[in-house]
Amino acid sequence: MYHLITGGSSGLGFEIAKMLIKMDEHVIILGRNQDKLDEALTALKEISKKADVLAYSLDIALEEDVDAFIEVLETSGKSVKNLYNCAGTTFYGPVTEIGREAIDNVLQSNMIGLMLFTSKMISHLLKKPAEPKRIISVLSTAALKGKANETIYNAAKWGARGYLESIRDELSKTSIEVINVFPGGMRTAFWADSKSGYDVDHFMDPVDVARNIVRVALDNKVYVTDITISRPKE
Ligand SMILES: NC(=O)c1ccc[n+]([C@@H]2O[C@H](COP(=O)([O-])OP(=O)(O)OC[C@H]3O[C@@H](n4cnc5c(N)ncnc54)[C@H](OP(=O)(O)O)[C@@H]3O)[C@@H](O)[C@H]2O)c1
Repeated sequence: MYHLITGGSSGLGFEIAKMLIKMDEHVIILGRNQDKLDEALTALKEISKKADVLAYSLDIALEEDVDAFIEVLETSGKSVKNLYNCAGTTFYGPVTEIGREAIDNVLQSNMIGLMLFTSKMISHLLKKPAEPKRIISVLSTAALKGKANETIYNAAKWGARGYLESIRDELSKTSIEVINVFPGGMRTAFWADSKSGYDVDHFMDPVDVARNIVRVALDNKVYVTDITISRPKE
């Protein structure tokens, strides 16, 4: 059984992959950029001889990509136990600068893609109804409170949260558990092209966030439904 990580080629998703592979767990990482995926795969394969590590390039918001991936998964006989939704992107700027392209980009990765990919994966997960499975989705503290200049991103994360809370209710009588994660700022490539001016050096290390997510994801003695992860008070 595999751990499947969207956005596994960089940042938080990559750190989650590293942590799981250190425990000899089998992992599949997903991302759009093939070069980034190849580089990540090479690094991940070095970690453990026992873990099977695979990478697959797709856009979670494109139905043909998602269908093709699930077809590959099922024809190869591989099955997934935990899905980690980490893929995401941001747009930082005043509401007066928002145009259709920015709205589309942010909604596609953070909300539409998450909804499409998760919905299709649920059919796959339900094929082995007796085995416990978890969908762990990385939202953000942006899904809890509105914030100036992060308007579209917040809207996308709020939308994703509405979807995830609803599937949690709909799947309550199945073996699938739905865990939502609300992290604060992390030092990742996410901020590379942003005009935020945030002091990213003081943001959380994604390694620390990944450790807490993996702990909650693998602890089958409890079902933690929601987890907020923030910087300690200074
Ligand atoms: N960094 C922060 O401060 C922060 C805070 C709270 C929450 N988050 C959330 O944490 C998650 C991970 O972000 P990160 O900081 O690790 O950013 P990151 O380093 O930029 O990683 C984002 C990952 O998502 C993938 N991705 C984006 N859109 C995709 C799509 N449509 N289809 C497939 N893959 C896609 C990227 O791959 P490609 O480049 O190949 O597309 C990359 O692997 C995101 O959901 C983000 O919203 C981040």
